[in-house]
Amino acid sequence: MTLSNPYHLLLHFLVVTVFLSADKASCIRFSEQISNPIKDQSDPPLKTAVFALGSFWRSEAVFGCFNGVVRTTAGYAGGSKTNPEFRSLGDHAESVQVEYDPQMISFRQLLEVFWSSHDCRQVFGQGPDVGNQYRSIIFTNGTDESRLAAASKEKEQMKSKSSIVVTQIQQLGTFYPAESEHQKFELKRNPFLLQLMGNLPEEELQKSTMGAKLNSYAAELCPPKIQKQTDARIKDILRKGWPVLRDE
Ligand SMILES: *[C@@H]1O[C@H](CO)[C@@H](O)[C@H](O)[C@H]1NC(C)=O
Repeated sequence: MTLSNPYHLLLHFLVVTVFLSADKASCIRFSEQISNPIKDQSDPPLKTAVFALGSFWRSEAVFGCFNGVVRTTAGYAGGSKTNPEFRSLGDHAESVQVEYDPQMISFRQLLEVFWSSHDCRQVFGQGPDVGNQYRSIIFTNGTDESRLAAASKEKEQMKSKSSIVVTQIQQLGTFYPAESEHQKFELKRNPFLLQLMGNLPEEELQKSTMGAKLNSYAAELCPPKIQKQTDARIKDILRKGWPVLRDE
């Protein structure tokens, strides 16, 4: 699909509008686009959390689907090398930065997602990926988060004592965003979904809440309920066509 004729432009607009209206976080982004500074000021400030749980392609997709997650970014954290790169990340771990609305999802809930989405007892790797860069880390900012992280790790360890939970808890230092080709990696392997979003420019795609969600959907890592809702929404668009989607 190109955007060179009016029908496609309209379709583009409607599809993006419907998707962006789908949840509260996305609506915030939409309102920014049409610039409403008064409303923006009353929006609660977003919080940021960083986790390492194996390949950052997958980690980004693990968190992207949850309501309240506004933005995800793949990157490097936990090491000392300045300006790490994919082929020379030094002592960093592949990580995901999650920007979230604390009124919709809490750090505690993000911790639950973290624990249930990887093997915290696997030594020197995650799944098929072997190496220090795939180690498991919860990054914390402040005593509250450190306390919550420590308590959740203890709880996880209690589930079985036959092996050690190797997850580290570290003070959050610098998070280095990864190169663009590693952002929304799963979504970029799905041209159809990119098209449904109107083939956003790279920078917009990286910041997009719907991009984070569809990245997760493409990797089939959404919780079943949200995966189904998204399926239904996509089928609806394909079946009804654009005129029916105007009522919002
Ligand atoms: C830690 O949290 C504070 C306040 O919530 C924030 O201003 C600061 O940027 C955070 N630090 C890092 C390294 O993200």
